[in-house]
Order: sequence, then structure tokens, then C-alpha cells
Amino acid sequence: MKNLPSRTTIGIIGAGGMARYHIAGFRAAGAEIAAMADTNLAAAEKTAARENIARAFASPGEMLRACPEINAVSIIVPNKFHAPLALAALKAGRHVFCEKPPALNAREARAMAAAAGKAGCTLMFDFNNRARPESRAMKTYVDQGAAGRINSAQAKWIRRTGIPGFGGWFTNKALSGGGPVIDLLHMLDLALHFMGYPEPEWALAQTFSDFITDRQFKGPWGIPDAKTGVTDVENACHGFIRFKTGQVLTMQSSWAELIAREEVSVTFQGTKAGGLVRRLFGQDGIDATATDTCELYSQENGLAVNRAIVVPPDETMGRVGAAANFVAAIEGREKPLNTPAEAVTLMRIIDAVYASAKTGKPAKC
Ligand SMILES: NC(=O)c1ccc[n+]([C@@H]2O[C@H](COP(=O)([O-])OP(=O)(O)OC[C@H]3O[C@@H](n4cnc5c(N)ncnc54)[C@H](O)[C@@H]3O)[C@@H](O)[C@H]2O)c1
Repeated sequence: MKNLPSRTTIGIIGAGGMARYHIAGFRAAGAEIAAMADTNLAAAEKTAARENIARAFASPGEMLRACPEINAVSIIVPNKFHAPLALAALKAGRHVFCEKPPALNAREARAMAAAAGKAGCTLMFDFNNRARPESRAMKTYVDQGAAGRINSAQAKWIRRTGIPGFGGWFTNKALSGGGPVIDLLHMLDLALHFMGYPEPEWALAQTFSDFITDRQFKGPWGIPDAKTGVTDVENACHGFIRFKTGQVLTMQSSWAELIAREEVSVTFQGTKAGGLVRRLFGQDGIDATATDTCELYSQENGLAVNRAIVVPPDETMGRVGAAANFVAAIEGREKPLNTPAEAVTLMRIIDAVYASAKTGKPAKC
């Protein structure tokens, strides 16, 4: 890896809601934020003023040309622009921290991984749920062998009324890549992280779109309803993935489904212990009232043993920690929390989930 800086200077691309967490994490890790770019210049200027960032630009290219001291960028824009903006930044020799999903599909993710390799730059994605205290704790136990071999896992991010607006980019497949399967991919990624990111073989999945235009199912966040615009993504998906190792994973993701409440969880069953990492949002749906659980289940001396692992709360859901890890990783102080190869595998699974849902048959990953 070339470019091992002693101090990281960052340019932020996109004044979206995640910008505040990226900025807090980068600064906590000692990085400087030199500039902010957004095609909506007023949005760039507003965030720059709020966050005390010296310069604002209307184009990411202009920012990189004007600020040679920037050696890393973070990308916080609608999904369709992740790959082209990451490719341009990598080509210009900058490290990249990109919001999830990595890209619209595996083809784009592969091109990004190849460009990072060619440039000798770090490419990481904001899989912030890996940086949650309970996820880090569980991963430590798994890596120490506490669970044995994880045979099976269930990845779930389900919402009852969580469609992020109608007719905006989230519900437009060409701009987003898909609905909750791609938007709420965090638990799929987290389950794979615990399982050791095995090589996927088959996906069998079904998507549902009964509620995708039903205003009753709009979430409290996202874009306001547009009068026009495309709404061509799923509102729920149930799927099953088989890996070449014989491991299996069940996934459920929804923006709109008739369930009791929102649930964000990974459960798994290993040869030595099972495990659960779960966030239950408060009934008001906000981070501050959420409860997190981290538990291991084993059978010892003829008895059922349930271990509750208590970790500090993190209202940011690992978002600040994930951004800080990016800076520490490019400065060689920490292992990156995720790799481009994992992002490609994740997108291959998502492509296969959509292919299976379309054909009604198992799809090769
Ligand atoms: N990790 C998380 O928890 C989390 C949560 C929410 C959103 N996200 C991700 O963050 C990203 C942005 O989502 P959002 O809701 O903030 O979107 P958004 O629609 O609010 O857009 C963010 C900003 O990007 C700007 N923009 C659009 N195209 C651009 C381009 N080509 N170059 C520069 N700026 C451009 C827009 O003007 C806007 O200000 C998405 O990829 C989304 O999946 C992640």
C-alpha cells in the first residue's frame, strides 16, 4: 500500500445526513477536514459552516483539483454515484471511505476494488454496524473460537412502516440499486462478518412490493413524497443463501411489512455456541431509546448457559467508530473493519438474491 500518511486530510463528498458522523469520526481519529463538495452548493456551504470546514465546492472534481492536500475522501451521496465518484477519487490517488451499499451491483464493486488495488489506496465502506460495541465484542468471541464453526445464521432488518419517501432516489432502482435488500444490507454484512465471509454459492429469494406505493407505510425519515418519480423497488424480501463451505444464511429485510416492531438482528448457531446481536429501537423509532443485546448460548455440564455480554451504549450505531477506523486504517494504526473483496462478495449475493426473485429459481452467486 502506498500513501501511508502520518496525517490524513479529508474532503467530504455529499452533505447528506451521515456527514455529521463521518466528520466526528474522522476528527476523533486526528484527521483534518479540508473541504466539502456537493452538487447542491448551498447544501455544501451550510454543512461546511455548521461543521467549521473552511472550503465548499459545487463539484467533487473541482474540490480535488483545488485541494492537493486532500489525500482521502468520504462519499455520502445517492447509491448510483458511489462507483463513479470512488473510481475518480482512486484514479486521482485518494483513499476512499464510501457509504453503503458499496455500489449498485457486483460489476461496479469489482471495478472499484480493482481501481483501489491499482492505485495502492485504501477503499472502505461504511458498514457501521460492524463498529457497534456489541458487534465488536461478538466478533472478538467468535475469533477466539467461542462459537466454534458457525453453521447457520439469520440476518434481519425489518421495519413495519419505514419506506423512505415515495418517488425519490431510494425507491428508484436505477438510482438506488434496489429497496431494503440493498438499503438495509447491514445485517447481511454483519452475519457474513461473523461467519468469516465464506464463498457464497446459491441464493433462493423472493421479494414483495405490495406496499411500496402505499402512503401508510412511509417512515419518519427519508425524502418527502414526490408527486412524480419512479417507485420500482421491493418493500420486503425473504431469502436463503448457501455457501460452498456448507454454511447457510437466512435473510429478511423490509421497509414495510406487517410485523410487531422494527428489529435489527443477527442470530447464529455454531458448533460450540449460538449467538445473538440485536438492536430493538424504542417505540418512537429513534436511536436514543434503542436497546442492544449481545448474548452467547452454550450447553455446559448438562446445563443451558446463556452469557450476556455487556458493552457500553453507542447511540451512533458505530457510525463515528467506523469513520475513525478508516483514518486509523489508512495511517496503518488499525486493521480496516472491512475490505473491498468482502464488498464484492456482498454485492454478488445481493445480485443473486434479485436474480432469484426475478426468475423464481435458485441463482448462482
Ligand atoms: N450508514 C448509514 O447508516 C446510512 C444512513 C443513511 C444513509 N446512508 C447512505 O448515505 C448515502 C446518502 O444518503 P442520503 O440520504 O444522505 O442522500 P441525499 O439524497 O440526502 O443526498 C446527499 C447529498 O448528496 C448530494 N449529491 C447527489 N449527487 C451528487 C454528486 N454526484 N456529487 C456530489 N454530491 C451529490 C445531494 O445534493 C445531497 O446533498 C446513501 O448511499 C445512503 O445509502 C447510510
